[in-house]
Amino acid sequence: MVTLKLPKIIGHRGAAAYAPENTLEGIHTAADLGIEWVELDVKLTRDQVPVIFHDDTLERTTGAGGHVAETNYEDLRHLEAGSWFSEGFAGVKIPTLEEAVEVLLERNLGLNLEIKPCPGRERETAEVALDALSQIWDEHDRLLISSFSHVSLEAAFDLAQDWPRGLLLPKDWPENWADLADYLKVSSINLNGNTCTREQIEEVADLGLPILAYTINDLDRARLLRSWGVDGFFSDAPDLLREVVERMH
Ligand code: G3P
Ligand code: MG
Repeated sequence: MVTLKLPKIIGHRGAAAYAPENTLEGIHTAADLGIEWVELDVKLTRDQVPVIFHDDTLERTTGAGGHVAETNYEDLRHLEAGSWFSEGFAGVKIPTLEEAVEVLLERNLGLNLEIKPCPGRERETAEVALDALSQIWDEHDRLLISSFSHVSLEAAFDLAQDWPRGLLLPKDWPENWADLADYLKVSSINLNGNTCTREQIEEVADLGLPILAYTINDLDRARLLRSWGVDGFFSDAPDLLREVVERMH
């Protein structure tokens, strides 16, 4: 079994406060800041190419119409995903999972890959992404596969039992979250650090699993979560959290 070496800070979607989310530039930015891991979202194009992208629709970050699940990679690869963030990033593209991993390996970064399936593609997305990953990544102590979808996590379990998984909990927790964590044999609980309560953190702590909180861009909130027992943070501005985690043991 793989012993997961989780960091205390994970750059969210790369380093989304400083570079367009889920891009190679974002990964480089996190590495330049000295961050050890990044979180990236993966989903499938219509023709099943795993790409690093958050939304189901293209509009917000590319200005194009349509849905990722209805767009072939050949069309998606021409889109521009940087200028919505700032003109300095004009021309930046949507990376494939493979292209992102190349940069992660080059920059010696760990990866939290969030399986972010378009509706109805929960199992397929995990299967295709993990298959692609299995051919290019072998540092399983620096890899965490996570998802809000328990179908995606179950597929990840079926395909690669010894790859660490993280159960993502939304603002409103499913009633059976602890059973899911047990059934899916997850290695971490990744929860919404902006909405969770102290009582919830204490409930999770009873499972004895590491607790990661997303998406924390505020030092006071980070300090409070830390005092409640949170082990690590996802942040768009990961460098800012250093002073909080430096006090962590
Ligand atoms: O994995 C943590 C976080 O990324 C989950 O929410 O919507 O930013 O993917 P979201
Ligand atoms: Mg995410």
